[in-house]
Amino acid sequence: MSETPQPADLIVFGGTGDLSMRKLLPALYHSDRDGRLSPETRVIAMSRGGLDDADFRGKVDAEVRGSVPVDDLGTWQRFLGRLHHVTVDISGQDPTGWARLAGMLGGHEHRDRVFYLASPPMTFGPFCREAHRAGLVTPASRVVLEKPLGRDLASALRINDEVGAIFDERQIYRIDHYLGKETVQNLLVLRFANAFLEPIWNSLWIDHVQITVAETVGTPGRRGYYDHAGALRDMVQNHLLQLLCLVAMEPPSRNDRESIRDEKVKVLQSLRAVTGGEVDRFTVRGQYTAGESGGVAVPGYLDEPDNTAPTEDSHRVETFAAIRAEVKNWRWAGVPFYLRTGKRMPYRCSEIVVQFKDVPHSIFPGSTPNRLVLRLQPSEGIQLNIMAKEPGAGEVALKPVPLGLSFAETFTGRVPEAYERLLMDVLTGNPTLFMRRDEVEAAWRWIDPILDEWESRGTVPEPYPAGSAGPAAAHELVGRSGRVWHEGGLA
Ligand code: BG6
Repeated sequence: MSETPQPADLIVFGGTGDLSMRKLLPALYHSDRDGRLSPETRVIAMSRGGLDDADFRGKVDAEVRGSVPVDDLGTWQRFLGRLHHVTVDISGQDPTGWARLAGMLGGHEHRDRVFYLASPPMTFGPFCREAHRAGLVTPASRVVLEKPLGRDLASALRINDEVGAIFDERQIYRIDHYLGKETVQNLLVLRFANAFLEPIWNSLWIDHVQITVAETVGTPGRRGYYDHAGALRDMVQNHLLQLLCLVAMEPPSRNDRESIRDEKVKVLQSLRAVTGGEVDRFTVRGQYTAGESGGVAVPGYLDEPDNTAPTEDSHRVETFAAIRAEVKNWRWAGVPFYLRTGKRMPYRCSEIVVQFKDVPHSIFPGSTPNRLVLRLQPSEGIQLNIMAKEPGAGEVALKPVPLGLSFAETFTGRVPEAYERLLMDVLTGNPTLFMRRDEVEAAWRWIDPILDEWESRGTVPEPYPAGSAGPAAAHELVGRSGRVWHEGGLA
């Protein structure tokens, strides 16, 4: 990677939307403040909004400035000066905006040019076609696709084909922001830069793995998206499966753009299909009803404030999903991977729990098996629970005690947001932390039969009150084999 930032043009389609305002622009501001953007780099927001540059800068000043640390107004003004807005139409009816964009980009063909599509997946194909028709796709161009990529395998294949007709695979960056989180990258370092774990990282020593992404937020104002997504598409197909891949993958031979992705895709292809009647046994879906969040009364999913009224889809969509997955290979045969995610849970906590087996022969009463907890958020850290002797004479009394690493205590300095890292990777042309076409398709291939089965039943998800730990069936899912969920968020 070059030390001096190269000039780039970052064109954000959906550039005035929620993702842009909450994540992308703050991440770019931080990069600018840390001197990681060339003085000539421009950010061009595209939307149907009818704004000019001054309107857009005013909007960003009003909506973003409060959420980032602006300790030096000069830097903030410099950042605003990079921002532009172009109004476009991707239906192909009105070429004016495209011509204006072509005028702005003309003469800068040598620069890195990134098209960031922060828009619904059905716009990806039309956008790429129009950008190509306007002559904007140069060999140095890249395109970033936000998740979810489609809503099933068929639509993902279609989108990948449409985008692939304009961009080469090496130019396509499919983003999953979980891969940009510090602790997620640390998982790779923990596994592959420390020798002690590898010999016990398998079914001989590991009883099971739990991956939980619990959120306290609900879905107010998101009905239009969420009714057609649900927790399985919104979280499991991408974020949770990516985490599973990083836990289960074989050691790659190199830390380069393809080696890690090669190993991840093998994990996805090794997932045991959950089909037909097994869907009842191995999956759970729930939808929150009215309850409490942080001591405040909150409405159920169907009563969340929104511009649109609930439809039949709203009644069927899951805001909670839990699945028992298995990776069918030598390393993991017989080890369940329990995945769980939900909105309006009692706490916010994303973590991976590796539960080891008990000692083969116990000479002390009261010993419990070791557990490794990787906390992604909040309070990022790694904790290994080991057995220790409680001080005292007489009978040996055991106690599980944590050996812990807190990132905040050990590493000082600001921890960059996931989008900051990933945007810099796109600008410098490093696709390692992005999903390759075959990965996304393999993930849908596993998810599709579960979705089909849920949809063909026409039944509704099990209700759970907001602020509770999900539907009772989720506890039965692990409880059937005598296990329990690790409620790390309550610790
Ligand atoms: C997004 C989902 O991808 O991830 C949201 O669309 C979810 O529904 C969000 O809230 C969670 O991300 P994070 O980084 O807050 O855990």
